[in-house]
Amino acid sequence: MDNNRGHFITFEGIDGSGKSTQISLLKKRMEQGGQRCFLTAEPSTGPIGVMIRQCLSGRMKTDEKTIAALFASDRLDHLLNDTDGICSKINQGIHVICDRYILSSYAYQSVRVPFDWVRNLNSAAADTLRPDYHIFIDISPETAIERMKKERFHTELFETKDRLTEVRNRYIELIEQLKDEETIIRIDGSQTVEQISEEIWKNVSNIL
Ligand code: ADP
Ligand code: TYD
Repeated sequence: MDNNRGHFITFEGIDGSGKSTQISLLKKRMEQGGQRCFLTAEPSTGPIGVMIRQCLSGRMKTDEKTIAALFASDRLDHLLNDTDGICSKINQGIHVICDRYILSSYAYQSVRVPFDWVRNLNSAAADTLRPDYHIFIDISPETAIERMKKERFHTELFETKDRLTEVRNRYIELIEQLKDEETIIRIDGSQTVEQISEEIWKNVSNIL
């Protein structure tokens, strides 16, 4: 691999698993070590991401296959666009940390849409950029719902206990299914913020 390229680290987990909390702690630690780091998230803030947010809030009604296709298109645009595309950051030697990536589509969309179809939709993105690490923060749906209740006033499309249970099961199956292709690190998200952060750092600091 070209040593001047930035690393690509993605965070995964059900809604409310603690991704945002850990992402900002990781960024702080990387920057303290003098590393340049860019934070981003999917759905993105680009035009396709905005449309997806309308589907998640219920403002725009559509079916799950269409949503799956929107997520895949948003991802490609997020990688390749000229304004703040992930690939250009990586090529400039900047590390990119992304809140959700391909595994989110595999886990969330394949609950209702066949996995192979979701995988094919995402093959262009998968061939374009593979994460150095997918960090999966694993918590129970009950804990996730409790945490989300404290700060959210509305429920988005996939934020029901049944759906989150199915999604979590899919994540766990995916870790096994993809173990020869992807580096997925599963972290027990019921630990304290500090313990989780330490475990993430132990892994990430290996590649910096
Ligand atoms: P996500 O980005 O995955 O939705 P957040 O980082 O926003 O998750 O966390 C959801 C809520 O849970 C927030 O209120 C956050 O302060 C809290 N939280 C995050 N990590 C932990 C933890 N390890 N233990 C207890 N609460 C946590
Ligand atoms: P996000 O804003 O990360 O939610 P949270 O901070 O609560 O985890 O993601 C929005 C929702 O979009 C979330 O329910 C997961 C879902 N999603 C998919 O279903 N497929 C995808 O490919 C992505 C990126 C997100």
